[in-house]
Parts: sequence; structure tokens; C-alpha cells
Amino acid sequence: MQQEVEKYSKPTRILHWVHLVSFCILFLTGLVLFVPGLGVIAQDSWTRVIHRVAAVIFILAPIIYVPMNWKATLKGVKEAFSWSAADIGWLKAAPRYYFLGDETGMPPQGSMNTGQRLWWLIVLVSGVIFTITGLVMWFAKTTAPAAVLQWMVFFHDVAFIVAGTMLLLHIYLGLLHPLMTEAWKAIYKGTVSVEYAKKHHAKWYEEVTRGKEVKS
Ligand code: HEM
Repeated sequence: MQQEVEKYSKPTRILHWVHLVSFCILFLTGLVLFVPGLGVIAQDSWTRVIHRVAAVIFILAPIIYVPMNWKATLKGVKEAFSWSAADIGWLKAAPRYYFLGDETGMPPQGSMNTGQRLWWLIVLVSGVIFTITGLVMWFAKTTAPAAVLQWMVFFHDVAFIVAGTMLLLHIYLGLLHPLMTEAWKAIYKGTVSVEYAKKHHAKWYEEVTRGKEVKS
């Protein structure tokens, strides 16, 4: 039987799925508010109600997760902000790898590759921006100065455009790209095969096995 290595714990996987579902609902209901032509769908404000319900879930999920998993959270946040020359090498080599299958020049990666860490960084930064600007728009609509509200809408929209575009890329690479065959399994079942770990996350595989080969 093929040997597996654990990549994501159960609480981390639950947080991922709760956040992904709430984010997609926020994205679609936000799109209705963002695109003037779709305003007709938002009649009676039901999309606004759904947007707020999904926002509560989106904000509460990490508030529940972090105190129970603070070590994993700290490690993850540190990883998101740790960038080195190897990441530049990855960014340069990645187009040839993902479009042409040419592995030469791809530096060995940790538990998240450079692209995954870039997405993770965007999730962290945009999550904070969405939460602050969204709560101000929600609760200070009648009390905050008009200029402040305009800036809140502006930053909410910028986060929407950046995070929304990257979400589509994330879904494509995680689910559909022919080289990322086990990325979905890592976040669905929590494990990847030894072969996949060695090929895609060599540095991380070395770390978890501490140099001891796991037989497949
Ligand atoms: C994290 C918590 C969030 C909160 C509290 C929040 C709250 C809000 C509120 C109160 C509004 C104004 C709605 C209205 O006009 O009644 C709004 C608009 C909007 N939201 Fe969010 N939101 C959040 C996250 C998100 C996310 C994750 C996305 C997209 C991925 C998003 C996309 C949008 C868009 C595109 C608009 C329309 C802004 C405009 O009028 O140009 N929001 N949000």
C-alpha cells in the first residue's frame, strides 16, 4: 500500500473549508453589489443579508480556531512573512514548470510552495482588510464621515479584486492543474503520498522524516 505523510491536521482542514465556503458566498454576494448591472438581483437586499451572515462565519471561524491551535497559527503566520532568494528562483522557474512541465530550476520547497505562500499572505492581509472595512461599513454607516466610508468601500473593493482573482487561480491550481494531482487530497483527507511530498515539497519531506526514508 502507498505510504502517506500527514500535511494538514483536521482542525486546519475544517477551518479551510468553512473559510472557503463563506469566502465564495461573500465573493458572489459582493459581486452583485460591485457590478452595477447585477443590481436587479440585489432587490429587497437579500444578498446584503446573506453577505452579512457569511461575514459573521468568516470572522468567527479563525477566532475559534486560533486559541485552540495557536502553535500551528504562529508557524503559519511566520511562514507567510518569511521570504528568501529561493522564492525569487521559484517565481522565475514556475511559468516553465506549470505551462511546459519543465522542472529544471524549481528550488526544493517547504510544506507550502512559494505560490501557495503568496496566496496565504494575500488571505491574511485581505482577511484583515475585509474585516475592518466591512465592519465599519456595516456598523458605522450612519455615524462615520462620508470620506471615511468612501475609503472603506475603496479598500474593500481592492481586496475583493485582488483576493477574488487569486482565489480563481488557487482553485485552478489546487483542483484542476495536471501537475498538482494531490493538492486537493492534502486539504480534503489531510495526507499526500510520499512520492508527491518528495517531488513537490522536498524540504518539508526532509523535515518531517528527519532524513529517514519512508518506504512507499
Ligand atoms: C470579512 C468580513 C466582511 C464584512 C464584515 C463585509 C461587509 C460588507 C458590507 C457591510 C458591505 C456593504 C453592503 C451594503 O451596501 O449594504 C459590503 C460590500 C461588499 N463586499 Fe463585503 N464584507 C466582508 C467580506 C467580504 C469578502 C470576503 C468579499 C469578497 C471576496 C467582499 C466583497 C464585497 C463587495 C464587492 C462589496 C460591494 C462594495 C461596493 O459597493 O463597491 N466582502 N461588505
